[in-house]
Amino acid sequence: MERQEFLAKLGISMAAICTGCSLVGCGSKSNDPSPGTTTNNPPAPGSGTVFSINLATDLQTIGTFKVASGVILVRLAADNVASSFTAVQVACTHQGTSINYNANQGKFICPNHGSQFSTSGAVLLGPAAVSLKQYTVTVNGDTLTVMA
Ligand code: FES
Repeated sequence: MERQEFLAKLGISMAAICTGCSLVGCGSKSNDPSPGTTTNNPPAPGSGTVFSINLATDLQTIGTFKVASGVILVRLAADNVASSFTAVQVACTHQGTSINYNANQGKFICPNHGSQFSTSGAVLLGPAAVSLKQYTVTVNGDTLTVMA
């Protein structure tokens, strides 16, 4: 192999390596969430409608939940009235992991470090020290709306 040919092949290889590196993010991680975290930023208070669902087809069973737009909405009771539901930010206030609703225990539990929150978002168990933001739920006919 001639020197020039070798260098040309090496140049292509280095370009491929650098391209691959940039595609997989070898550089700055300033915009990357840490492992186990989410980018589910909670809606700002007063920002209006977060999302709506049709109660004729969604969340028909007590304990079921839906996550959308940074909010977790849970059905707590059977009647189609606002007080049968709760809506809180889905991002744990400790490090941002998405929380789950545990229907058997009637509370939100973070799978990352085990923080627990009441259905209104209050901290029941750390390490989280800050309550989850709770959002307003309205029901009009079969339409449930979550408001910030
Ligand atoms: S991220 Fe939820 S307890 Fe740590």
